[in-house]
Amino acid sequence: MKGIILAGGKGTRLFPITKGISKQLLPIYDKPMIYYPLSVLMLSKIREVLIISNPEYIDFYKNLLGDGSSLGMKITYQVQERPRGLADAFIVGEEFIGNDSVCLILGDNIFYGQGFVPRLDAAGSVKDGAVIFGYYVKDPSEFGVVEFDSEGNVLSLEEKPNQPKSNYAIPGLYFYDNSVINRAKSLKASARGEIEITDLNKGYLNEQRLKVELLGRGFAWLDTGTYDGLANASDFVRTMQKRTGLYIACLEEIAYKNQWISKEALCKLGQVYKKTEYGKYILSIAKS
Ligand code: DAU
Repeated sequence: MKGIILAGGKGTRLFPITKGISKQLLPIYDKPMIYYPLSVLMLSKIREVLIISNPEYIDFYKNLLGDGSSLGMKITYQVQERPRGLADAFIVGEEFIGNDSVCLILGDNIFYGQGFVPRLDAAGSVKDGAVIFGYYVKDPSEFGVVEFDSEGNVLSLEEKPNQPKSNYAIPGLYFYDNSVINRAKSLKASARGEIEITDLNKGYLNEQRLKVELLGRGFAWLDTGTYDGLANASDFVRTMQKRTGLYIACLEEIAYKNQWISKEALCKLGQVYKKTEYGKYILSIAKS
């Protein structure tokens, strides 16, 4: 399975913060935002990742993450000329995906919770069809929304409905079989001029090839789309890390635990940041 991080868009809802910088490079406490979705792909054992961003920002991501080899990964980059919609990721990324299945994660989505890795393992084994998630929120009208019947079967999917049929929002993490490329190509733009991921998912649903997994209330899916969302996400990461001493989205730790890099390589990476708590954490993992 391949992984794609969509890190483009104009970030207009966060202006003026994002007037001169890509949203997904903003700090969430002690790391750039994109570390969090990248960590999810790594926890899914996905080693080949494509990062898609705007022409003006793509080099920033290259500077940050390079070719991925220091993490035992292969990271490549591609430009999306304009924000044509989330489903455009599969058109821009067609060559990268090749004949594989693919996981798409939005560059501004943060996930954290116990039992996540087995869920990712299960979703990642999809060969035929699609797996998406549902997460209970107070106000789902800003998101894709999934409606279930009393037996848990999916009844409908809607993008940003004015009157949501349920409280289950669809987070920005999606697993697809290889047919996603052709499905994306056949989508028509919505009223807001984008090819919508929700329309893509409806196609799978109509063919009974869509699985929706619920993420329970002990799980955190954080939204970074507003000033408050951004501040809350930073507070959450800081609180969890201070309390437990365990880091959220420490890429070097995950690479090491996945056995993608050696202890020596981990030490070297820790040395680079040794003046920071982040670097000290990496070094402590290497010593343990
Ligand atoms: O966050 C989850 C939600 O993400 C889902 O519940 C919705 O179904 C889905 O449509 C999406 O809604 P948003 O309104 O949050 O999407 P937004 O346009 O903000 O784009 C999400 C991220 O993807 C954002 O970081 C910008 C990036 N993006 C977006 C578009 C449309 C791109 O890189 N390229 C694009 O063409």
